[in-house]
Amino acid sequence: MSKEIVLTGITTSGTPHLGNYVGAIRPAIEASRQENTDAYFFMADYHALIKCQDPARVQQSRQEIAATWLACGLDTDKATFYRQSDIPEIAELNWLLTCVTSKGLMNRAHAYKGAVDANLADSQDPDFGITMGLFCYPVLMAADILAFNANKVPVGRDQIQHIEMARDIAGRFNHLFGQHFTLPEAVVGEEGSILKGLDGRKMSKSYNNTIPLFDTEKKLQKGINKIKTNLLEPGEAKDPNDSTVFDIYKAFATPEQTAEMRQKFADGIAWGQAKKELFELINGQLAEPREKYLELMANPAQVEVILQAGAEKARARVRGFISDLRNAVGLVSFK
Ligand code: TRP
Repeated sequence: MSKEIVLTGITTSGTPHLGNYVGAIRPAIEASRQENTDAYFFMADYHALIKCQDPARVQQSRQEIAATWLACGLDTDKATFYRQSDIPEIAELNWLLTCVTSKGLMNRAHAYKGAVDANLADSQDPDFGITMGLFCYPVLMAADILAFNANKVPVGRDQIQHIEMARDIAGRFNHLFGQHFTLPEAVVGEEGSILKGLDGRKMSKSYNNTIPLFDTEKKLQKGINKIKTNLLEPGEAKDPNDSTVFDIYKAFATPEQTAEMRQKFADGIAWGQAKKELFELINGQLAEPREKYLELMANPAQVEVILQAGAEKARARVRGFISDLRNAVGLVSFK
C-alpha cells in the first residue's frame, strides 16, 4: 500500500512558543515517525511576507523555526523539511491554480473578510491595507498542498476553510484538465492539543499571552510565574478543571503525573509550589533540545545545508508532476 502523504506548513512570522510545541510541533514530529506516512513539513515563508514586511523579522523567524523543529528531534532523513521559497515549482503551480480560482471563492475567505470588516468598523475604505497577497492567500496554500498531492493536512481550526478551498480549487482544475489532484483532508488536533496561555485564553502570538519555547531557563520560569491564577490560599482545595497551570502541566505530563497533580490540587497545593513543579516538568523536557537549539542558532550554515538537502528532495518529488500540469493546461514544448 502506498504511504499516506501528510503535509503541513508553518508561517515564519514569529518565535515558537509552548503552544506551537504542544499543538503542532510535537504531534507532527510524532506522526512523521510512523512507518505508513510520508511527511512533508515546510516553512511557509512566502505566506510570512503577507503579514510581515520587516525583512529582519522574517529572516530571524525562519532561522528560529528551522532550529526549533530540528532541535525537537525532526528526523530529516525520514521527513522532508524545506522552505517554501526554495521550491519554485510551488510559485509556478500557484499561478496555474490562480487562473482556475473564482474571485467569489476568495471573497469568502475568513482572513480577507475579517480585514474588510475591521476596515468598515474603523470607517475606512473596505480595501484599506489589503494586499493581493492576503486576498490570494488560500491559492498559495492550495499550491503548497496540491504540489505534493497531500492526503492529510494537520492544521489549527482557523485553517479548515483553507483546506476546503484547496479541495474546491483542485476539483475545478481536475474538472477542466483531467484527474491530477487528490483532494486533501484537514486533520485538526483534539481539544487537548490547544494549550492555554498566560491569561487562560488559547496561547497565541496575537493575544500576547505566550511563553517562549526556547528562551533561557530564567525566562521560562518567569513566564510560568506570570500565569494567571485565583486568590485561593495554600491549603484550600483548587479546581484543576479551571486552572491554566494544571492545563499546561497536563500537556507535558504522563497520565500518572497528571493524576498526582490532580490530587495535589484537591489537597490544596500552593500556587507557587504548583508553578514550581510545572517549571521543573517542562524544563526537564526542554533542557536538552534547548541546548541543541542554541547550537543550531549559532550555526546557521549547518541548518542551511540541511534545508538545501530538503529542498532538493522536495523538488525531485514535484518537478515531474508540475511539468505534467504545464502540459495539461497547454504549455507544451514545440518539438
Ligand atoms: N496558513 C497556515 C497557517 O497560518 C500555514 C500554511 C501555509 C499551511 N501553507 C500551508 C498549512 C499548507 C498547511 C498546509 O497556519
